[in-house]
Amino acid sequence: MSKRTVADIEVKGRRVLLRVDFNVPLNIETGDISDDSRIRASLPTIKYLVDQRAKVILCSHLGRPKGKVVENLRMAPIAQRLSQLIGLPVGTAPDCIGQDVEGKARALKEGDVLILENLRFHPEEEANAPDFARKLARLADIYVNDAFGTAHRAHASTVGVAKHLPAVAGFLMVKELEVMGQLLHNPEQPFACLIGGAKVSDKIELLQNMLRKVDMLLVGGGMAATFLKTQGYEVGHSLIEDDKLGLAKKLLQEAEEWKVPFLLPIDAVVAKEIKAGAPTRVVPTTNVPSGSHIVDIGPKSIELFRSKLEGCRTVIWNGPMGIYEIPQFAQGTRSLASFLSTLNATTVIGGGSSAEVVQEMGLTDKMTHVSTGGGASLRFLEGAALPGVEVLLDREQ
Ligand code: 3PG
Repeated sequence: MSKRTVADIEVKGRRVLLRVDFNVPLNIETGDISDDSRIRASLPTIKYLVDQRAKVILCSHLGRPKGKVVENLRMAPIAQRLSQLIGLPVGTAPDCIGQDVEGKARALKEGDVLILENLRFHPEEEANAPDFARKLARLADIYVNDAFGTAHRAHASTVGVAKHLPAVAGFLMVKELEVMGQLLHNPEQPFACLIGGAKVSDKIELLQNMLRKVDMLLVGGGMAATFLKTQGYEVGHSLIEDDKLGLAKKLLQEAEEWKVPFLLPIDAVVAKEIKAGAPTRVVPTTNVPSGSHIVDIGPKSIELFRSKLEGCRTVIWNGPMGIYEIPQFAQGTRSLASFLSTLNATTVIGGGSSAEVVQEMGLTDKMTHVSTGGGASLRFLEGAALPGVEVLLDREQ
């Protein structure tokens, strides 16, 4: 890890602005948190700061309120859940900047925890407005970024603020960067990348980058249809990104040049309508009926993917194998998730929907690492620099 961490800096008695990603799924009506994994994932950093007698000022965004106050996106339910998890009171603030908040921050005692109001209630947060970043920085002496899930965003609380305070990484940030970095730079082989999701366009850079690192690529999900089409197969009404056919073809050619097996589904579950209860059939992918949609990979593909993954020492998985939100079409996604959890290998789950499935199936502890970052882990695996990481102090600084 080339960045300085919270363990490298004296925090006792100092006000620490801790950027976390507490953008958790919430029931908008009731305010219930349906998955608190992201809160739990930052507990090591929060507890460390409390134990070290820092004055802890947490900040996060929640949802996409587009620069306005949205009542049901306030941080209060998060503060409550955090308080339960750490067994300490967690104070709340009426805003994330301003005189009141500065007063609250100044009044903190050692070991106190305060959570600021949703950063995205201010349009200046996403605009990375310098003045807003300065106001955030005024609250604290030190800045710690534990929000891996938001590290791909160049916002005031992830980038701007780091210009004004000593800026270091929290323990979750360190863990994410180390696990993902190991995948990119020194994976135990054989190394496979299992990719799914609706669109090739979302994953093209990821596939391009991983192609040079892995021993095999396995592709399922809606995006497989575009690859099948480039091979001359008909895919019925499945979503095809016509403007990506050329890129898909190029990727298949590159895989051949690099001698990396590029596996596509050999059979598929198809349905005339994408809705729960729709009648389905399993067909070879060479024979998808016109008028049907591919909604999942078929049993032979599941078997094929399992047999290929079996001998791997490292697997990264990102993206569902079908329209998993409809339970009837979730078989491919769920059976591969189960299978990965039994592998004697390093298994890393990219955030977003794959992480959701793993969490919902209770398999999180059976995987080596389930990333808290959806977009962020995707960007990282594409080989892109994450702005929220770039701005942190280097070890030698
Ligand atoms: C996420 O959920 O991926 C992060 O919290 C970032 O959220 P955003 O996509 O709204 O920036």
